[in-house]
Amino acid sequence: MVKIAIFASGNGSNFQRIVEAQQNNETSGFIVTLLITDKKDAYAIERAKKLGIKYYFVDFKSFSTKSLFENEIVKILKSEKVDFIVLAGYMRIISATLLNEYPKKIINIHPSYLPEFPGRNGIEDAYKSGVEKTGVTIHYVDSGIDTGEIIYQERIAVNKKWNLEEFEREIHKVEYRIYPYILTKILNERKNNL
Ligand code: GRF
Repeated sequence: MVKIAIFASGNGSNFQRIVEAQQNNETSGFIVTLLITDKKDAYAIERAKKLGIKYYFVDFKSFSTKSLFENEIVKILKSEKVDFIVLAGYMRIISATLLNEYPKKIINIHPSYLPEFPGRNGIEDAYKSGVEKTGVTIHYVDSGIDTGEIIYQERIAVNKKWNLEEFEREIHKVEYRIYPYILTKILNERKNNL
């Protein structure tokens, strides 16, 4: 069984969805072992408590460099025997310290059809530019901003009548459906290659 850590900085709805999918046996091959957050007041922490998932808050401000910050995270991951990392609304760029410890073992979900609209405001940027279609992308993480190898993408046709909230809701719907499913798929495909 592959042990997964989910990283989240905020709301944590994808985190909750993946845990619930696993608890409902909609997934296979992995177990969500812990939540890592870099924000003391992340709502994801409340979700972790309710779900009975162990969590760690690692305070970036307590470290003088990003590498030391990530070293602390690596220590936690090793002590919990984590095999694979899933980013779900984690708002920091991952650097070499984590990437070297978990090569091709970190994935992210991005709320646009990459390479369209990378960065932290992917949803709003797509909405404001008036696109006819948007999408969701799941990709491996590298040291760039939403530039890693794409694993899976899905298009969403935009209804011109949607306000930003509705636009966002449609994106999240797709995220909640595909993230647990794609995670199961790649971990099963890579069973002997992790
Ligand atoms: C999602 O839209 C995800 O694509 C992006 O950040 C958002 C996280 O939402 N990377 P939540 O914290 O899972 O509710």
